[in-house]
Amino acid sequence: MNVAFYEKIWMWAAGVLIFAFLATIAVGVTGSALQPPSHVETIDPTKIWNDPRFAHLGATPDARGATVVVVGMMFAFMPAEIRVPAGRPVTFRLTSADVTHGFQIVGTNGNTMVVPGYISQFTTVFRDPGEYLIVCNEYCGLGHHLMSAKLIVEPEAMRP
Ligand code: CUA
Repeated sequence: MNVAFYEKIWMWAAGVLIFAFLATIAVGVTGSALQPPSHVETIDPTKIWNDPRFAHLGATPDARGATVVVVGMMFAFMPAEIRVPAGRPVTFRLTSADVTHGFQIVGTNGNTMVVPGYISQFTTVFRDPGEYLIVCNEYCGLGHHLMSAKLIVEPEAMRP
């Protein structure tokens, strides 16, 4: 079969692009530890404050690391300051009391949508102690730009 030179170039270019797209997925999964969207766990957004899953907001340390429970609402995160240990798995569980918000821990791979009616969950490890900014990255109304919180990653030695 005789394939024209230019057609060969385009076929190879298309092949390289497909490989590159697949490689970005592989790098995201292995290198950056990005996870697919959360499990489907639902919640009645009008009854969050009576729901036992959101009765204790903030970080709860456990043998493994910690679990952090957060509610997003216009235009704040509750709680506004979160303390977690460095170098240990931290599981975040979030929901929204009103509209869709974002929850991005700047400079880390912690990033999820916070959707009313659902509980978003992800687990990550913070290697570097320090202060991290948490921002809402989904436009949620006039105060969107004010919606932020602080994550403090504490060195292992500071834990009791
Ligand atoms: Cu919440 Cu933007």
